[in-house]
Amino acid sequence: MATLNRLLIFIAFFSLEIHFICGVTDINDAAVLQSLKNWRNTPPSWGKSDDPCEDWEGVKCTSARVTSLGLSTMGLEGNLSGDIGGLTELRSLDLSFNRGLTGFLSPRLGDLQKLSNLILAGCGFTGNIPDELGNLANLYFLALNSNNLSGRIPPSLGKLSKLYWLDLADNQLTGSIPVSTSISPGLDLLKNAKHFHFNKNLLSGTIPAQLFSSDMVLIHVLFDGNQFTGTIPDTIGSVQTLEVLRLDRNDLTGEVPSSLNNLTNINELNLAHNNFTGPIPDLSQMSSLNYVDLSNNSFDPSEAPIWFSTLPSLTTLVMEYGSLLGRVPQKVFNFSQIQQVKLKNNMFNGSLSLGDSISPQLQLVDLENNQITSLTLSSAYINTLILIGNPVCTTALANTSYCHPQQQSTKPYNTSLATCGNKSCPADQKLSPQNCECAYPYEGTMYFRGPSFRELSNDNLFHSLEMSLWVQLNLTPGSVFLQNPFFNTDDYLQVQVALFPSPGKNFNVSEVERIGLILSNQAYNPPKEFGPYYFIASPYVFH
Ligand SMILES: *[C@@H]1O[C@H](CO)[C@@H](O)[C@H](O)[C@H]1NC(C)=O
Ligand SMILES: *[C@@H]1O[C@H](CO)[C@@H](O)[C@H](O)[C@H]1NC(C)=O
Ligand SMILES: *[C@@H]1O[C@H](CO)[C@@H](O)[C@H](O)[C@H]1NC(C)=O
Ligand SMILES: *[C@@H]1O[C@H](CO)[C@@H](O)[C@H](O)[C@H]1NC(C)=O
Ligand SMILES: *[C@@H]1O[C@H](CO)[C@@H](O)[C@H](O)[C@H]1NC(C)=O
Ligand SMILES: *[C@@H]1O[C@H](CO)[C@@H](O)[C@H](O)[C@H]1NC(C)=O
Ligand SMILES: *[C@@H]1O[C@H](CO)[C@@H](O)[C@H](O)[C@H]1NC(C)=O
Ligand SMILES: *[C@@H]1O[C@H](CO)[C@@H](O)[C@H](O)[C@H]1NC(C)=O
Ligand SMILES: *[C@@H]1O[C@H](CO)[C@@H](O)[C@H](O)[C@H]1NC(C)=O
Ligand SMILES: *[C@@H]1O[C@H](CO)[C@@H](O)[C@H](O)[C@H]1NC(C)=O
Ligand SMILES: *[C@@H]1O[C@H](CO)[C@@H](O)[C@H](O)[C@H]1NC(C)=O
Repeated sequence: MATLNRLLIFIAFFSLEIHFICGVTDINDAAVLQSLKNWRNTPPSWGKSDDPCEDWEGVKCTSARVTSLGLSTMGLEGNLSGDIGGLTELRSLDLSFNRGLTGFLSPRLGDLQKLSNLILAGCGFTGNIPDELGNLANLYFLALNSNNLSGRIPPSLGKLSKLYWLDLADNQLTGSIPVSTSISPGLDLLKNAKHFHFNKNLLSGTIPAQLFSSDMVLIHVLFDGNQFTGTIPDTIGSVQTLEVLRLDRNDLTGEVPSSLNNLTNINELNLAHNNFTGPIPDLSQMSSLNYVDLSNNSFDPSEAPIWFSTLPSLTTLVMEYGSLLGRVPQKVFNFSQIQQVKLKNNMFNGSLSLGDSISPQLQLVDLENNQITSLTLSSAYINTLILIGNPVCTTALANTSYCHPQQQSTKPYNTSLATCGNKSCPADQKLSPQNCECAYPYEGTMYFRGPSFRELSNDNLFHSLEMSLWVQLNLTPGSVFLQNPFFNTDDYLQVQVALFPSPGKNFNVSEVERIGLILSNQAYNPPKEFGPYYFIASPYVFH
């Protein structure tokens, strides 16, 4: 017994000694992290000890090896040196929202064989996406959006067979979408991917037919804001899982394939601002369609298609700068969820009637610049109706509000600070809606890429967004401030978000890192109506 005790004491002393000499962290991993300390604004705890696994905020380890590095929104400045490739047990790397991280992405990122999450969204990286990222066989989540990356999408990304989330949006990527050939992989091989977010780049060429097949599980295809040419491939109709399809703001042409009508799970369809020709597409099978925009194309002149009257799930119908003729169908104004009908600059003529039963949700009917000659309003409709530029405005209705520029009848939502009276805060602080105290919130902008609605005055909807944020981010009820929601020129719903600490005036380093990760790795899910989103944090100033 005594021997055993002595042995234990000896072991305890010996481990203490080891700890003292080289710390808990694997020597090689510790050396890599020491090199990362060259970044400006690393957490203060990084200066206090030489043992990353033990004491450094943002570093998580298992058995002395670094498995997670999370430094979202730290204000880091510097380069991502190739040394990072030495952290061979790393599972998760989140450096999101550090605009000061610049330079090229090191090809040695491809050495991180165990990596499942790579999140570099909202940094300042430039240059190409390294081919070597295709070696990350365990990668599940890849977010490189909102950097300044250029060059082509590497075909090697097609080797990431476990990939679920691929976000390359908001860069300056060029070239076409790579698909597989006998000698090279391509994105058509990503059979587990649910998200292709390539919007807001400089991608060109045709959208390859080979990209889509019936064994894919894509739910969000966001290709808007590029320079794609040619027609929509017929094969798109085989991806039955699709919920959001955005092809707007490209140079696409030709007829929209009839296979599109196969996509019965689609909530949002945006084909606006291309140069599609031929008949207006038949969407009559899309029984889940909430939001549709077909504006600024060159479809054949025709009467309103039948689906204007048969898709009761619609909240928003947009087809501006089109060539719609004849009467405006009444039925659309009676759909129970309809909020906005935007049909300006078409050739609708004759008399307009909104029908006998107008949905109480309806807030806006814009028929500016059509050929409407008379109006019948049988039931009370007090919200916005715009008829400027129609013959009816030169005669009978000339002096009515319908024929003059008007304020929208509703105002976008802001979180109320009414209970705070006229209290104000120093310039670098904000009022918390929770307790009317001044504090330093964690702030940023949320971009909703395919909301199912367009109307922004619905308090209940935004209250549900506030609540989902404080619940899922584990903050105090009432500690979320939302401001100034609007649809930007890319048709993304943009919302300013401020999250308040409680108790106290500041978030500490680990809180900021935690919130940043939840918002960058999509662990946060907004209410369903808001659809897919991305978040970009403002720099957080630690006090
Ligand atoms: C590091 O960043 C600076 C500033 O952006 C850049 O000039 C330099 O080329 C980068 N170095 C590398 C190796 O990426
Ligand atoms: C990207 O580059 C443009 C100019 O090419 C510059 O204005 C912009 O600030 C850069 N963005 C980032 C995130 O570095
Ligand atoms: C449309 O869906 C049907 C079955 O739902 C399928 O047989 C057909 O191949 C699909 N068409 C296209 C073009 O994918
Ligand atoms: C759109 O296509 C039509 C028919 O091909 C063509 O006449 C027209 O110039 C195109 N418009 C634009 C803006 O490219
Ligand atoms: C839509 O078309 C109209 C008329 O050609 C043009 O004035 C407007 O700028 C276009 N809008 C977009 C976003 O392309
Ligand atoms: C309007 O919709 C309601 C159900 O939302 C329905 O009962 C009514 O018949 C519809 N009216 C017309 C004129 O279509
Ligand atoms: C409306 O336009 C259609 C198609 O151009 C035409 O046939 C019809 O006579 C017009 N109706 C009225 C009332 O002007
Ligand atoms: C509109 O109002 C002005 C003065 O308020 C009046 O002179 C004019 O006759 C009115 N026009 C019509 C069409 O009622
Ligand atoms: C607003 O603040 C001023 C002092 O700054 C105070 O005199 C005034 O009563 C306050 N008004 C309200 C409505 O609280
Ligand atoms: C919401 O906040 C914005 C930005 O401060 C402001 O312009 C707008 O008037 C506010 N809206 C309401 C309804 O208070
Ligand atoms: C950071 O704040 C959280 C929540 O207030 C607290 O639990 C944690 O102990 C703090 N961490 C440090 C290092 O102060």
